[in-house]
Amino acid sequence: MTEAGPGEPDSLRLFFALWPGEATRTALNHTGKWLHQHWGGRRMRADTLHLTLAFLGSTSVLQLDALVACADSVQSHPFELILDRAGHWRHNRIGWLGTAEAPPQHLELVGALNIALQAAGFPVDVRPHVPHVTLLRNTSGGEMPTCEPIRWPVSEFVLVKSVTESDGAYYEVIRRWPLA
Ligand code: 2AM
Repeated sequence: MTEAGPGEPDSLRLFFALWPGEATRTALNHTGKWLHQHWGGRRMRADTLHLTLAFLGSTSVLQLDALVACADSVQSHPFELILDRAGHWRHNRIGWLGTAEAPPQHLELVGALNIALQAAGFPVDVRPHVPHVTLLRNTSGGEMPTCEPIRWPVSEFVLVKSVTESDGAYYEVIRRWPLA
């Protein structure tokens, strides 16, 4: 993961994320359908569902090794995330599923990753982290429905490449880190 080959882009749009396993993805997609019935908007495709830990944006391929070293340095433990709360943000019109209480291991993972990224000179989000899975875009939200909790067993985090096509964004996991 060092240099771009012929015909390959010299920068990639990247983010670190929790990537759901099949059962969690199916449950998230099901909740997406349900929330769409309440709030409308545009549903995210099932294959795109994820929880962002740190968004890097456009990153030179020459920085990939440094990025991987940041993730390698993170000490973390498996945990369970209970997604039990629907939310809506007016500023970007997204409808999401989040948690009433983020487990400490989740917040430690996000904190450790951001500290390592910042120390290596990568851009980090200074806003407090709100764990959320975007389910709907371009929605005005509405009354806050009570939702069925989803239990997500988290055993790894991933680095994802985002490619924008005419019909939306496609995501590809390019590296995985198991939570020890
Ligand atoms: P969102 O789900 O709240 O829209 C890939 O774009 C992922 O990175 C999305 O989950 C998106 O969050 C998140 N992200 C965080 N900051 C972003 C930014 N400035 N631009 C685009 N995506 C961002």
